[in-house]
Amino acid sequence: MKLPEGSSFSIRPAVMRDLDTLAAIDAVCFPTGIAYPREEILFLLLNPTIMIVVAECAGIIIGFAALERRRRTRKNARNGELVTIEVLPEFRGETIGTALYQTLEDHLRDWGGSSIHLHVSVDNTVAFSFYQRLGYRVVNRIPQYYLRKIDAWQMEKNLP
Ligand SMILES: CC(C)(COP(=O)(O)OP(=O)(O)OC[C@H]1O[C@@H](n2cnc3c(N)ncnc32)[C@H](O)[C@@H]1OP(=O)(O)O)[C@@H](O)C(=O)NCCC(=O)NCCS
Repeated sequence: MKLPEGSSFSIRPAVMRDLDTLAAIDAVCFPTGIAYPREEILFLLLNPTIMIVVAECAGIIIGFAALERRRRTRKNARNGELVTIEVLPEFRGETIGTALYQTLEDHLRDWGGSSIHLHVSVDNTVAFSFYQRLGYRVVNRIPQYYLRKIDAWQMEKNLP
C-alpha cells in the first residue's frame, strides 16, 4: 500500500494517547530485542528532553521519530541524539522519513543545538544511505552495540 492518490501526510508532536500505536509501529520496524518495549516508549513520551513527532495520513499514524536534546556543561554546548526514526514498510520511499527528520533537525536548531549524533546498525544499509543523504558522516564503529553482537556506526551531523 502506498499513500492514496492525491493524499498527503502531516507531521505533529506525539501525545500520550499515541503510545500504543507507537509501540506497534516500533515492533513492525525493528526485530525483537532491538524494538523498544512499550515501557521504553512511555519513558520517551514522558521525558521532557525528548521530542517525538508523528507522521499521519488520514488520521492514521504511519511513522514517527524521536530526538533527545542534550546540554554539555563543558563549553555550554547543546546537541542532539536521534533516538529513532521509523516509517511503516508500506509507506517508505515517499519522503515521510525525511519530513520527520527535518522537523526534528529544525527543532534542535531553534533550540540552539549545533550537532546531532546517532547510531545505526552496520547491517542497516537503507538507514545508512538515508542518513548519508541527510548529511551525516561516520565518526566511529562501535563493536557489538546491538544485541551484544552487531556493530553500529556512530554518525554525526554538524548543523549549519
Ligand atoms: C530509514 C527510514 C526511516 C527511511 O524512511 P523513508 O520514508 O522511506 O525515507 P524517504 O522516503 O524520505 O527516503 C529518503 C532517502 O533515504 C534513502 N532510502 C530510502 N529508502 C531506501 C531504500 N529502500 N534503499 C536505499 N536507500 C533508501 C534514499 O537515499 C532516499 O532518497 P531518494 O528517494 O532521493 O533516493 C525507513 O526506511 C525505515 O523506517 N526503516 C526501518 C527503521 C529504521 O531502520 N530506522 C533507522 C534506525 S537507525
